[in-house]
Order: sequence, then structure tokens, then C-alpha cells
Amino acid sequence: MPRLVVVSNRVAVPDPTGNRAAGGLAVALREAFEAYRGLWFGWSGKVAAHPSTEPRIVDKGQVQYALMDLTSLDRQEYYNGFANRALWPIMHYRIGLSEFSRADYQGYLRVNRTFANALAQLIRPDDLVWVHDYHLIPLAAELRAAGITNLIGYFHHIPWPAPEVLGALPGSRELLRAIMDYNLVGVHTERDADNLRRGLIHDLGAIQHKPDVVEVDRQRTRIKGFPIGIDVGEFQRLAGRSQSNRIIRQTTDGLGSRKLIIGVDRLDYSKGIPERMEAFERFLGTNPDQRGRVTYLQIAPTSRSEVPEYATLGRVVNETLGRINGTLGEPGWVPIHYVTSTYQRSVLAGLYRLAAVGLITPMRDGMNLVAKEYVAAQDPADPGVLILSKFAGAAQQLKAALIVNPNDKIEVAEAIREALQMSQEERVSRWESMMSVLQAQDVSWWAATFLKELTSNKTRTASRA
Ligand code: G6P
Repeated sequence: MPRLVVVSNRVAVPDPTGNRAAGGLAVALREAFEAYRGLWFGWSGKVAAHPSTEPRIVDKGQVQYALMDLTSLDRQEYYNGFANRALWPIMHYRIGLSEFSRADYQGYLRVNRTFANALAQLIRPDDLVWVHDYHLIPLAAELRAAGITNLIGYFHHIPWPAPEVLGALPGSRELLRAIMDYNLVGVHTERDADNLRRGLIHDLGAIQHKPDVVEVDRQRTRIKGFPIGIDVGEFQRLAGRSQSNRIIRQTTDGLGSRKLIIGVDRLDYSKGIPERMEAFERFLGTNPDQRGRVTYLQIAPTSRSEVPEYATLGRVVNETLGRINGTLGEPGWVPIHYVTSTYQRSVLAGLYRLAAVGLITPMRDGMNLVAKEYVAAQDPADPGVLILSKFAGAAQQLKAALIVNPNDKIEVAEAIREALQMSQEERVSRWESMMSVLQAQDVSWWAATFLKELTSNKTRTASRA
């Protein structure tokens, strides 16, 4: 049986203490690793003065972890620099925030080459290789240069922008060229797949064969949408037994008869957090009877704080929050509760279930799993309402949510009012419709569908010429 070799920037080695919550990708790959024996390769998260060129191997059950350390210059140029300061904003349509530096780009290529050379030593002839996310786009090209001919798939977990946007990034043609070294490329939506195919056609003169196969210099790859899902049953179970949790009990007591609106996002400018707070401010302004009757809880764990744009965002959020709470709050009521800690999935599930409204309004998002988790966590008899940005990949699937444009604070404020007033009958019917989508395309479906496509004959015949 072939092994599954997963490569990602962050590697989720299981935590024996159980104190650290499993990340999204670890949950997504759980079943795939049960079906295939596995190897998971990537950055250890550690910095060393003289890192080894060979990975540290950690065996845990079915999965072997191969961990690479980085130098502090690597971390700065590859992770903070090119990946998160140049590529991330471009991929999220924020050309103005993208800071390109040639040194960072060289660092990004250098780390990809070092990883590929180390990984190439571990790959066996039948292994299936699955690379994840924007930190590692050139990895397949480097593996090919190191002589690896295995099937290699790539999944892009963030949006793929329109060609005009990506084209603003120096080096974008090389990234597009590197995409062609994968046998299969997955993105979350057909819109993103179309953006990537159009980019290849416009910028590299690719020829399109069938709707999803493109060819450049006699080399073909398949590009398709595979919307990632969640483990629906797990979230339902976690939410159902959350009432006994201390944080959930305290939150329930603190709310009294007030309704809860919840947002959960990494503290990232793509998530639209200040804009969302201002929409809530607008809602309170136009619905003064709601003051004191509703609380908005924003959980926003601090993220990538060494990147200047994230530090700036932290300040903007603090100012916006302080202004709104200062001007609208009362001695017995704080309109917005804001916390930057990370919570266990079980606590999040309980908070989602308590919340009458899930307010998920990113400016751009590949998928947004919080939206899906919020829906799965609801009480089937009395579910809350999801307000979802039209710019989240999830909006392509969760059409029964209240879909909003996050740039339009009036529209978001009106959606909050509509959600709080919605009849139980309508809430149940919208929830059932969203649940059927979540169940049909859950996380096992996602991983199995991608891997099936990667190993299918169709993909093989469409592989490198
Ligand atoms: C997004 C990306 C992931 C990344 C995560 C957390 O979801 O798609 O690849 O791991 O953000 O960001 P961080 O920089 O902390 O890894």
C-alpha cells in the first residue's frame, strides 16, 4: 500500500498532555492517515543557529513526523517575509499591504530547496506526496529537480486571486510555473480554480484541455475546487456535552437573558475584525432598544505578531474596541467582549452553541471553517443564525446563511437585526439546509476525494510529459 507523505509548514505532532488543541489540518488528515500509513514533513516551529540538513524523526502511532529546524534568517525571510508579508496579502487581494523584498523571496526559495532535498531522501517509489499551502508552492519543482517522479498534489488553503491581482507580485510568473510541477492542484472553490487556470493561460500561455486540465511546455496539471469540510459529528458531540465546562457555565451566567453574537478568527486583517466591530456599533446605533440586550464576543488569538501589519491591526482593533465600548457601554453592560487567547475545540463548540448569531465576515477567506463549526454546533431544535461574508469560500456552499458584503456596514448591521428577530421556523429550515451540505461534503469526503483524484488514472495520464 502506498504511503501518504504530507508536507506543510506547520506540523501538528500530537501533544501527549492533550493541552494543545489539534489544528485544522491535523483533524482533516486524521482519517487519511488511518487509511494510509503516513509521514508528515515540515518545520518544527523551532529556530536553531546551525540546523541539521536532515529532519528529526518522531514516531507516533501510524504516523512518522519528520521535523526541520530553521535559522532565524530563514524564519524571517521565508515565513514572516515572503510567505506572510508578500504572498498572504496578495492572495487575499490586498495589493497595498504586500511588501515584496528580493531577499525574502530568495529565502523562501532557499527553504523550499532545503526542505525538498531533505524530503527527497525519505520518499519511497510508491509514496503519494501531498503538499499544503502557500509557504511551499515551489516544493514540487525542487523535488522534481532532486529526481522525484512520484505523484505530487498541492492544496492551497487560502484564496487564489484573479490574475490581475497576483500579477502585481514580483516573482508571480515563477510561482505559476512551479504550480505546473504538481499532478493535481486543489483550491476551495471553483472561483479560485478558475482564477488560477486563467493566470496560467494569461501569464504562461497555458493551453486548456478539458475544463480543469492545463498544459504548459507539454507538461499538464489538473486544477479543481475541493471544498474542505469538518468532522460534523465531532462538533455536534462536543457542543452537546459542553454545558458542564467551566467557561461555558460562566459565560451562560454572565449573559443572563442577553443574546450572544460570536466571532472567532485569528487576529488577521483578512478577517475584517475592526469592520465587524463597526458594523455592530452601527447596529446598536440604529437599534437603541438592543443596548444591554445583546453582547458580541470576539475571540481573536494573536497571530504572526512579528509581521508589522499584524501589530498595526492589533492596535486598530484595540482602538476600535475601546471607542465602541467607551461610548456605548454602560456600568452593567460591555457591548463587545474581546479575548485574544486560544481555546480548546470543546470550549469553542460550547460557545458556538450558546450564540444566537455567528458573525463571520472576513474580507477574503479561502474557506472559513469557523462558519461550518458554528453551524454544526447548534441545537437542532433551536439553532442560531449564521451571518457570512460573501468573500468566504464557505459562502459558495452555505447559501442558507445570511450572506453579506463585509465592506457594507449598513448591510451587516441589518443582517444582525434580521438574525436576532428571525423566527424559530426559519432558523431551523436554514440550519437544516446548511447541515445537509456539511454532512455531504465533510472532512473525510474532502481528503478522500482529493487523494482519489490524485491517484486516478485520469491524473496519471495527465501527469508530466
Ligand atoms: C491559515 C493558513 C495556514 C496557517 C494558519 C495559521 O489557516 O492557511 O497554513 O498555518 O493560517 O497561521 P500561522 O502563520 O500561525 O501558521
